[in-house]
Amino acid sequence: MKKESIEYLIQEFLKSYFGWEFSLKKRVLAFLCLQFGDSGKGKFSNLFARWAKVIVRPSGGDNSGHTSEYKGQEVVTHLVPSGIFFPDKINIIGSDTVVNPESLLKEIYYLKSLGVTFHNFFISLRANLILPSHLILDGLGENKAGKGRIGTTRKGIGPCYADHTARRGLVMNHLLNPEIFRSKLRALLNYHEQVISGMGCGYEARQMLEKINPDYVNSIGEDGLFNADNIADAYLAFGTELAGFIKNTDKMIRGFLGKENIALEGAQGIMLDVDYGTGQFVTSSHCTPAGMAKGAGLRECDIDASFGIIKGFYMTRVGKGPFPTELGGADSEIWCNENGSKAKELEGYADATIFDPDPFIQGVALRRHAHEYGASTGRPRRIGWADLPMLRYALEVTGVQHLILTRLDILTGVKTINLCHSYEYDGPDYTYGEKIFQKGMIIDEAIPDPEFLENCKPVYKEFAGWETDIRGLTDDTKLPVQLTKITRYIDAAIDHRARIAIISTGPGPEETMFMP
Ligand code: IMO
Ligand code: MG
Repeated sequence: MKKESIEYLIQEFLKSYFGWEFSLKKRVLAFLCLQFGDSGKGKFSNLFARWAKVIVRPSGGDNSGHTSEYKGQEVVTHLVPSGIFFPDKINIIGSDTVVNPESLLKEIYYLKSLGVTFHNFFISLRANLILPSHLILDGLGENKAGKGRIGTTRKGIGPCYADHTARRGLVMNHLLNPEIFRSKLRALLNYHEQVISGMGCGYEARQMLEKINPDYVNSIGEDGLFNADNIADAYLAFGTELAGFIKNTDKMIRGFLGKENIALEGAQGIMLDVDYGTGQFVTSSHCTPAGMAKGAGLRECDIDASFGIIKGFYMTRVGKGPFPTELGGADSEIWCNENGSKAKELEGYADATIFDPDPFIQGVALRRHAHEYGASTGRPRRIGWADLPMLRYALEVTGVQHLILTRLDILTGVKTINLCHSYEYDGPDYTYGEKIFQKGMIIDEAIPDPEFLENCKPVYKEFAGWETDIRGLTDDTKLPVQLTKITRYIDAAIDHRARIAIISTGPGPEETMFMP
């Protein structure tokens, strides 16, 4: 192996950081986000794909958008693991994912057009199938909820997981058994049809379905909304294209255990986890190391180390839900979710600066500067300072002990960095089990309930920023002192529960600082 290659640096890092000797044992590493997603999972699973032989995306669906670098250009993947850019690696879409076969095929064609090969790519036979009716139910649910909506990606994620849990869902393997598939599909579409007519949304659903594919719609007067035969034909055709990829990947991955290095590429983030996230404002899958292990057919104890990724000193959220440190608060939320768009922001706020006294404008400026627009939906990402009570909570529920800080290069030149070290509670009495939160209380560790978090005011500690460009730095001794002051403060503020293991100083794989 070439000295100083990224592979070499990763091996040296794992040796010095964990004391692992490489000839001895093959390992499993997990990469997950401890915030609301979009923290750089793509870069890190792509980076560690140089180390791993097997890269698994265990859960989530095409609601994700993971950005990697390939042949010097930025490429966004949604379902395909970020190790796909290495032809000798094995890339697997695991069992707890939800797969829209049409969207997956589009992603495969797109990647193939860039020169990516798919000969070592597999999809779990148990991966859940997203149907056109799931997209409709997701969209109708959001439309009906009005202001109370979640702000989902409308990709059918929630309804597909709901059918899985309710034991009526379809999986990839059904596509390999056409007769079984047709009969199960018909039953499920009938059920969805009843739900839609119960909601009184037949007309709206018809319009949505027309847009997805006019062949999927029965003519008015025919039996029902969904043309089950046409949907079955289309899905079975997708199945024929994907058939060579559909395998018992759980068994395959267990077979690799101890024989090959495995990287688990998380999706979404802990604060969007269906169990641990912010109430109803979450996705429908499990984003914890335990959830990731299960989605790969493994046990949590099979993971040798989990890396929790956080953006360095700021964070973002897409969609609705509480976000105590959001710059510009409710105005920002409404702008990002309702009135605003990337285009409007790029045109209308060309002069916005982070030094503006108005936090809303500071947020716009930071978002423009950091290009924080959804990789899957293009929505402006709500933006705010790092939230340590939330980080403490995420570390507590995941047990993660190793941190990766990303996007630090973005904040170079910002005069003041604010870290939210605690909240001041500013709402009506809120009972949480045996605890009662009252106005004026100072809170160090978040609890995830939206009704509580909405009333939490961030209490900031101010730090001076740094001026020297850190883009591409790989030597931690060269970090500006102002920056290390902040990382040291974070270390202490999380009670040394986790260590900063890696700092990303740019999007490129070589722009990575491995801590000694
Ligand atoms: P990656 O993997 C950021 C958010 C949506 C919405 C909520 C529910 O790129 O980090 P869903 O469509 O999943 O039912 O939407 O979850 N969301 C994400 N936000 N990054 C993601 O993925 C997300 N996946 C879902 O915006 O608020
Ligand atoms: Mg993303």
